Amino acid sequence: MDNLSVEHLTGIRDLTRADIELIFQTADSFKEVINRPIKKVPSLRDITIANLFFENSTRTRLSFELAEKRLSADVVNFSASSSSVKKGETLVDTVNNILSMKVDMVVMRHSSPGAAKFLSDRISAKVINAGDGTHEHPTQALLDAYTIREKLGTVEGKKVVIVGDILHSRVALSNIMCLQKLGAEVMVCGPTTLIPKYIGKLGVKVSHNLRQALEWCDVANMLRIQLERQDVKYFPSLREYSMLFGLDKALLDSLSKEIVVMHPGPINRGVEITSDVADSKQSVILQQVENGVAVRMAVIYLLAAKIDRQ
Ligand code: CP
Repeated sequence: MDNLSVEHLTGIRDLTRADIELIFQTADSFKEVINRPIKKVPSLRDITIANLFFENSTRTRLSFELAEKRLSADVVNFSASSSSVKKGETLVDTVNNILSMKVDMVVMRHSSPGAAKFLSDRISAKVINAGDGTHEHPTQALLDAYTIREKLGTVEGKKVVIVGDILHSRVALSNIMCLQKLGAEVMVCGPTTLIPKYIGKLGVKVSHNLRQALEWCDVANMLRIQLERQDVKYFPSLREYSMLFGLDKALLDSLSKEIVVMHPGPINRGVEITSDVADSKQSVILQQVENGVAVRMAVIYLLAAKIDRQ
C-alpha cells in the first residue's frame, strides 16, 4: 500500500491499521530528514496550506507549521482571536474566503466536536483535524503511538493506561482507537466523575486505583486536567486529585518494573505529574514533541499526494 485510504484526516476512527503503518513508515524517513543539517525537502513546493486555529495551541500549531515548512509548502496562519470571526463571520464563509486565495490544504483546530468533518464535507481542499473540541486529536494519537513504537519496538501487545480527565479529552478518544487498531491493550484510570459512562463500549479496561493501573501497564499517558472545559466541579480540589491520581517520583520508583511516562502537554506540573517525573529518564514527553513534526510531515505528504495538481 502506498497511499492512504482516506481523503482527509478528520479522525483516527476513519483510518485502517495499514494507513497508520504507512504514516509511521513515512514518518521514519522524515525523522531522518529533520535530523540532517539541512532539514528540508522540496516535496510540496507547489502546495499552499492554511493553519486555522480557532482555539489556543502551542505544540500542535508550531509543529504543523514546522512540518509544512520542512516540506517546502507555502504556509498561511490564521488565529480566530485576531480575525473577522470576532465580527460574526461563519466558519464556512471564513474558510471559503481563505480557499479563494488558492489554498490546497487546511489544518484546523476548533472547539466544536465534528468541525473538521463538517468542513471536509463542504470544501474542496484537504482537511486535517488539529483537535475538535472533546472529540478527536488524530495527529496527537499518531505521534503518541509512534513514540511508543520507537521506545518499545512495537505497539502490538503493549499495555497502555491513559490517566486523568478522560471525559473532556480528545487525546484519550483518539489514543484509544489508534492503540487498539495497532493491537495494544488500553486501560483508562481516573475518578469516576471523569470517566465517561460509555467507556466500556470502547473495549477498554477501567481502574480507579492509580497504583494498580501503573503496575499493570508498560506505558502511562498522564492527561492534563482540562479545567477550561469543566463547567461543574468533578473532584473536590486539585490537591486531592493529585494525591489520588498524580504521578510522583516516589510512586514511579516503587513500581515493580520500569514504565514509560507520556504526557501530551501542556503539563500542569504538580497536578498530573511532578516535575521530577516529567524530567526523569522514563519520561518521553520531549520525544513526543520531536516525533510530532515527523508524523505531521508524513500525514501532510500523504494527503498532498491525493491533490489534483493539474
Ligand atoms: N498536545 C497539544 O495539543 O498541545 P497544544 O494544545 O499546545 O497544541
